[in-house]
Amino acid sequence: GAMKADLERILSTAPESELEHTKKDLAGFQKLFHRFLQEKGPAVDWGKIQRPPEDSIQPYEKIKAKGLPDNIASVLNKLVVLKLNGGLGTSMGCKGPKSLIGVRNENTFLDLTVKQIEHLNTTYNTDVSLVLMNSFNTDEDTKKILQKYSHCRVKIHTFNQSRYPRINKESLLPIAKDLSYSVENAESWYPPGHGDIYASFYNSGLLDRLIGEGKEYIFVSNIDNLGATVDLYILNHLLNPPNGKKCEFVMEVTDKTRADVKGGTLTQYEGKLRLVEIAQVPKAHVDEFKSVSKFKIFNTNNLWISLSAIKRLQEANAIDMEIIVNPKTLDGGLNVIQLETAVGAAVKSFENSLGINVPRSRFLPVKTTSDLLLVMSNLYSLQAGSLTMSEKREFPTVPLTKLGSSFTKVQDYLKRFESIPDMLELDHLTVSGDVTFGKNVALKGTVIIIANHGDRIDIPPGAVLENKIVSGNLRI
Ligand code: UTP
Repeated sequence: GAMKADLERILSTAPESELEHTKKDLAGFQKLFHRFLQEKGPAVDWGKIQRPPEDSIQPYEKIKAKGLPDNIASVLNKLVVLKLNGGLGTSMGCKGPKSLIGVRNENTFLDLTVKQIEHLNTTYNTDVSLVLMNSFNTDEDTKKILQKYSHCRVKIHTFNQSRYPRINKESLLPIAKDLSYSVENAESWYPPGHGDIYASFYNSGLLDRLIGEGKEYIFVSNIDNLGATVDLYILNHLLNPPNGKKCEFVMEVTDKTRADVKGGTLTQYEGKLRLVEIAQVPKAHVDEFKSVSKFKIFNTNNLWISLSAIKRLQEANAIDMEIIVNPKTLDGGLNVIQLETAVGAAVKSFENSLGINVPRSRFLPVKTTSDLLLVMSNLYSLQAGSLTMSEKREFPTVPLTKLGSSFTKVQDYLKRFESIPDMLELDHLTVSGDVTFGKNVALKGTVIIIANHGDRIDIPPGAVLENKIVSGNLRI
């Protein structure tokens, strides 16, 4: 009733050029909102969650053991790479798309992606193309940058995900009055999560076009996951399955450590693989869910999906993803909710879904400047757009790194390091307060540096800190 009238009023403000896609967006939103109203109680019944059977999550080594096809180009030519590019760099204090933040030797996330794919195309003489799923938040800035790759050997396509209205938590009505991009309206809309990919990819017409070009699989990943490179063994497994039965959906999962409590886990549910996220777990079972022993793995969000299966399921309206209700408080203090979906939640809708337990190196997300410090350092080396851990590091584990709030924004973080310290022998780093690092510092073992309020600690150039606590006005 009231919702429908509101949406119609909003639609009536759409300029001619935006009418078509706004109609589609609002229709999609209406469907999601309707489902949200109808849902009663939790989406998963804890009693039905089972550990997945042995063969439904295969170790990567087993996939790798099958080797590569004789003709690598023929499998690569059936692949498209898609990066989820709807998100902003706000959590690291940056304006604009996250993909345009510089992460390594002046390269942005997007630069690294393009270099990786270009390397494949030149090495194997192939035509792997890149698709970016942008949002209304990232589309304009991203498109401006794309010109810079016009001479690269990578075809780049973009499409936009939907734009949905945020709703008032109390009234459950849209807070937007119209479609204008005015300042008051800026917070009225949101990109509804990466689960939006199926409908938006289909509606854009690009899905059909790629199928028409002979493409069969799409490799989807977060643009901020630097470990999400094209894996030829997984691709070969998909296109040349050992039992002749093609998987429509592969989710790369990896072993959980105690630090990984956030990610969703793959479970067996009513005879199918299903992704269960912590938000869906009843309070009484949250500890059990987090435990590393019962649910050993989590979703990396690296997914390999059959293009024809997306088309078939989308046309049958058969892609079923749980609704994630994301509450927010806007700058003015207004409480809103936004309804979202996650791309991996569709695993249960596909035939022959498979989990592959991949090495941790395929999950290298950069969410904070602490992550950024690691990937900028000599712990990693860069080759053709891919980061690999330096052979000079004796243990394959990544140091636990925690930079304090003075380092949260990329701009501030960069100012605090004259050069990135040598971290090859580091196990654990905690930095808090007003701390700066001079040129060529080396950090080894466990290093804790704490400047109390009002104090400042400048680590001098060339300092070697090994198993050291530096605090207050202690001199090194
Ligand atoms: P998130 O910001 O959601 O990261 O973006 P996360 O906290 O790791 O969340 P999950 O667990 O993966 O959901 C993950 C990727 O998805 C894109 C972002 O740009 C990023 O690459 N994304 C997110 C979209 O493209 N659209 C959205 O609506 C949300």
